[in-house]
Order: sequence, then structure tokens, then C-alpha cells
Amino acid sequence: MKVTVVGAGNVGSTCANVLAHNEVANEIVLLDIKEGVAEGKALDMWETSPINLYDSRIVGSTNDYAKTANSEVVVITSGLPRKPGMSRDDLIATNANIVKSVTENVIKHSPNAKIVIVSNPLDVMTYCAYLTAKVDPSRVFGMAGVLDTARYRSFLALELNVSPKDIQAVLMGGHGDTMVPLPRYTTVGGIPVTELISEDKLNEIIERTKFGGGEIVKLLGTSAWYAPGAAAAQMVEAIVKDQKRVFPVCAWLQGEYNMKDIYLGVPVILGKNGIEKIIELDLNDAEKTLLEESAVAVRGVMKVLDDMGVVA
Ligand code: NAI
Ligand code: 2OP
Repeated sequence: MKVTVVGAGNVGSTCANVLAHNEVANEIVLLDIKEGVAEGKALDMWETSPINLYDSRIVGSTNDYAKTANSEVVVITSGLPRKPGMSRDDLIATNANIVKSVTENVIKHSPNAKIVIVSNPLDVMTYCAYLTAKVDPSRVFGMAGVLDTARYRSFLALELNVSPKDIQAVLMGGHGDTMVPLPRYTTVGGIPVTELISEDKLNEIIERTKFGGGEIVKLLGTSAWYAPGAAAAQMVEAIVKDQKRVFPVCAWLQGEYNMKDIYLGVPVILGKNGIEKIIELDLNDAEKTLLEESAVAVRGVMKVLDDMGVVA
């Protein structure tokens, strides 16, 4: 069983490291376009195997997709973060070209792979990969909700002084300021969160979650990698082990939530076939409005990609 991670930068190498530690696959291929980087990181990780007691092989590759052949799952993390002087549209064009060429290579060498997109802007890069891959959308989806929900749950755990293990939550929408954490679907050891926290405090945590990515960028000068890498690895594990986990995933909607032809974060069941089911919650009017606002924001960026004509 082989899993490939494309992009051996901060997120990709962290993801590969978590996959190896958890022995999610017996072969993990880490690929990057920069000469030697993936090989160097793969070797460094492999040298931890006698210490951390795992035997998943980690193979590095400088843009040689033959090494990725017949991967069960491929995680795509290649892409730039936004740099000073770069417009949002410049970032979309740059990353779309990267995601497009990577996806072409992935599909050529692993025609049956499930593809997990991580590159930003997430919802639209997932759309870009889908248009390029030309496979069933149940096999092309994006990682954002697992990360955003983890941030939300971790902040709640701090506030309530409870274990993050006991906090369950659903968060929907795009990966950005318009994401929609759902207090009505948030529980602490089975107890509705609203019974344990004031509305003001909960709203504060929701706002912090929405800007959770920015909070890290402000501290580090670049975006996060530990939680994003672990989140992508958790999705891979659900697929490889056919766990049928229920996660918020950026999925292609075809009528669910009254939306069509859009990639948006929704709860799904993730198993060996990729997205096995999109779960439709009975949202109230306020929640529907927030989700629709988020969809408008995502559609705006999808249109930028469509207008650029990067992918047909
Ligand atoms: P990074 O700059 O550390 O790593 C990106 C890697 O991609 C670099 O090593 C680069 O050489 C490689 N790369 C570029 N073009 C390539 C190509 N054509 N083929 C193979 N590799 C190529 O960036 P980092 O921090 O790992 O972030 C990666 C992406 O993930 C960014 O777009 C970032 O915005 C996004 N991200 C998304 C999150 C989410 O929740 N979906 C969370 C965190 C980051
Ligand atoms: C994050 O949420 C920037 O998407 C990245 O950390």
C-alpha cells in the first residue's frame, strides 16, 4: 500500500512524518520539484524509524512520478503561500498551474488514486484538481474542515479546561473568513456546548477559529504546518483503513444543501472509496444564510480561476 505526498515543504513533510509514525502505509513517497529536498527529508525521517519504532518506508523523489506509481492516496501540498506584492489573482494563477501539472502527473501514474488537496486557496485548488483529473469527484476532495474544526475544538478545550478528545464539532463552508462553525452541532462529552459556555465566549472562539490561520501567520511569518499536516494524514488514514470517519471535507456538491457545481466544506463519510456519502444536516435559517454567504465567496474565486482559463 503506497501513499504519496507531493510537496516536501512544511505541510507535506509533516504529513509524511505523521503517516510514517502511525504506519498508515508501508510505503510513503515524498515528492518535490526542488532537487534533493524530498530525498533529504525522507532520509532524515527514515533515520528516526529505529527510535520511533515504525517500519513504513519513506522514499524521496525529485519530480520523478514513476516512484509514485499506483499510489492508493495522493496528498497535494505543492504551492506557494501569498508573498508581499503578490495579488490574490497572482497566487491563484501560480498555484493553479502547479496543482494542474501535479494532478496530471498523479493521474497518469496512479489512475485510481484518491486525491486530497491541501494547496491554497483550498476550495478553488480542489476545483482545479477536479477539472484536471477528470475522475469522479468522490475521489478528489480538499482538506480544510479537519484543520479548522481541530482549531475550534482546541480553543474550546482550553476555555473549558477539558480534554480536546471529548470535543466533537461540525464546521462547514469555505476555508476562509466565511467558514461556518456550528455551535448547535458542538458537544463536549455528549453535552451540548451551549450548556457549558456563555454565548459571548463561544462567539469569541468562533471568531478566533475563522482567523486561526492568520493568527499563526502573524506569529511565524508563514502559515501553519503541524496541524495541517496532521489533519491531512488523518484523512489519508481514514481512506487507507476504510474507517468510515465522519469529517468536514471540501466536496463537490451536486444538489446537496441546494447547491450545485461548487466545492465546499460539508460533513462526509470518508472510506476506501474516498467520499462515500455527503451528510445533509437540517440547517436552520441562520446557518443556511451563513453557508450561502460562504458559497458566494468561494464561487467568486472559482470564477477567477474559470476566467483565467488555466484549466479547461
Ligand atoms: P512550503 O513552501 O513549505 O512547501 C511547498 C512545497 O511545494 C515546496 O517545497 C515547493 O518546492 C513545492 N512545490 C512547488 N511547486 C511544485 C511542483 N510543481 N511540484 C512539486 N512540488 C512543488 O509551503 P507549505 O507551508 O507546506 O504550504 C503548502 C500549501 O498548503 C500552500 O499553498 C499553503 O497555503 C497551503 N496550506 C493549506 C492549508 C489548508 O488548510 N488547506 C493549511 C496550511 C497550508
Ligand atoms: C491555514 O489555515 C493558511 O490555510 C492555512 O493555516
